Amino acid sequence: MNDPNILVEVKGLRKSFGPLTVMDDLDFSLFKGENVAILGQSGSGKSVLLKVIIGLLEPDEGEVSLWGRRISELDDGELNKVRRKMGMVFQSGALFDSMTVFENLAFPLVEHGFDDEDALREVVKKRLEWVSLPGVEDKYPSELSGGMRKRVALARTLAADPELILYDEPTTGLDPLNSRKISSMIHEIDKRVKSTSIVVTHDLDCARKVAGRWCYLSGGKILADGTPDELFESPHEEVRSFLRGVAPSTENQGRDSRDVPGKTTSRGAE
Ligand SMILES: Nc1ncnc2c1ncn2[C@@H]1O[C@H](COP(=O)(O)OP(=O)(O)OP(=O)(O)O)[C@@H](O)[C@H]1O
Ligand SMILES: [Mg+2]
Repeated sequence: MNDPNILVEVKGLRKSFGPLTVMDDLDFSLFKGENVAILGQSGSGKSVLLKVIIGLLEPDEGEVSLWGRRISELDDGELNKVRRKMGMVFQSGALFDSMTVFENLAFPLVEHGFDDEDALREVVKKRLEWVSLPGVEDKYPSELSGGMRKRVALARTLAADPELILYDEPTTGLDPLNSRKISSMIHEIDKRVKSTSIVVTHDLDCARKVAGRWCYLSGGKILADGTPDELFESPHEEVRSFLRGVAPSTENQGRDSRDVPGKTTSRGAE
């Protein structure tokens, strides 16, 4: 339970919305340094799982522990400390449209207590270089393409140096070239900062690139958990046919209307 190498531990998670049960006694753990992809049908609860882990949604039943501490037992100060070690790239990108790219990236840093303007400029510049977008500090999100906005959202999450990064559909809505670019960036970033990450994706090329462990979510549980090869050989027909259905192309991308390129994302989280 208190193993500091287990960054995320979810036990007996139940979550319903009215009559709809989305998480049904789900267990999941993630070790420090692991990069896992969460796969599953649309509506299977992948985003809900991420939101429960990051604390945007509360479980009806069950426990979430982060860095070995049950979050239900933490006071507000402790919880904030834990949350600061995590970053999430939302499905919609969730940039602040009324702020420039610089302001978007500086925002979480200022919240983390960063107040040296020069140092702030330097960190923002570096993170934009990481995502191959040097010099876009003064642009507004509406002036950028869908792929560029995704990269700015990625840079914003990275700005605060999170130990645990959660990505929700980082490549959805992008063309294959931009999808590959983002997947490579995530892979590079994982190597560079040795982060632990959870990537929710429909894009198997992305999953292959960024994660050595795949979990398939269905019926409110993790139905399969293993290497990509193990999942392709899963005893569960549903898992095999899902993977056959989406592999190897990116045909399932873009089906989320919340995230189409060119659409201006709204302010804040989804
Ligand atoms: N805040 C909410 N209130 C009510 N229902 C919700 C809420 N959030 C999610 N749901 C429902 O929970 C189910 C799982 O949603 P979730 O967004 O986790 O799916 P998903 O697996 O991420 O799907 P996709 O691949 O399309 O993004 C869906 O039926 C959704 O409508
Ligand atoms: Mg989702």
